[in-house]
Amino acid sequence: MNRFFKRWMPAKDEVGKPARTARRALNMLRREYYGEPLVESEVCSDPMDQFSNWFDEAVKHVRDDPNAMLLATADKHGRPSSRTVLLKEFDETGLVFYTNYESRKARQILENPNICLTFYWPDLLRQVHIEGTAEKVPESQSDAYFRTRPPATQVGAWTSIQSTPIPSREVLNQKFKEMEQKFDQQEIPRPPHWGGFKVTPHRFEFWQGRLNRLHDRIQYTRHQSSWKIERLSP
Ligand SMILES: Cc1cc2nc3c(=O)[nH]c(=O)nc-3n(C[C@H](O)[C@H](O)[C@H](O)COP(=O)(O)O)c2cc1C
Repeated sequence: MNRFFKRWMPAKDEVGKPARTARRALNMLRREYYGEPLVESEVCSDPMDQFSNWFDEAVKHVRDDPNAMLLATADKHGRPSSRTVLLKEFDETGLVFYTNYESRKARQILENPNICLTFYWPDLLRQVHIEGTAEKVPESQSDAYFRTRPPATQVGAWTSIQSTPIPSREVLNQKFKEMEQKFDQQEIPRPPHWGGFKVTPHRFEFWQGRLNRLHDRIQYTRHQSSWKIERLSP
């Protein structure tokens, strides 16, 4: 048993007292960030190119879900919520994820398009924030992406009215079976309540973990047709 793990384990008299043990354990959860420097003079002038370079490295080095991102939305009163979604497409104009248009996140985006995306790649000691506005992609784009999904997940999209309460797991399983039978041997069309959102960014922040918590943070903000690059204090 290594030194860290031994100290993390609850002492005998703390077993069964989860809150106290957890507080103790959290103090022990420390690591050093030792990333390579991220320097203003060396980053790409276009943040999408910089994102593309970091994303390629994440795909190479991050074992699970390098395309997972936290999506933060807010309703029309500014009340926030967040959840993980998967990045499915990006180009120089924006980033696309797919979801249910009846879901909580979609309803919030439709009343308030301001959103924030966060990628955290612990294996690379890197984080990227992207702030911008989201809007539905054209139906033809959602159709094209939906056709690439495995049939079982296509049936899943017909089965779930995402974010609504359901009486039980059995009800969900039963609906899945019914949908499977309905679309048996047919090409499964995209449900009208399912599709993509494209995020058009106006701010990026690239964070590289560095020694002694003196991390590198490079911010890009949009100024008409160009991007302003600044270093932020860690
Ligand atoms: C790794 C991971 C990837 C996910 N990808 C998606 C996704 O691409 N689209 C989606 O709608 N939900 C995805 N989810 C589920 C969402 O996090 C969330 O539970 C769901 O979209 C409902 O969110 P809402 O009620 O806030 O709208 C993913 C969850 C995880 C953990």
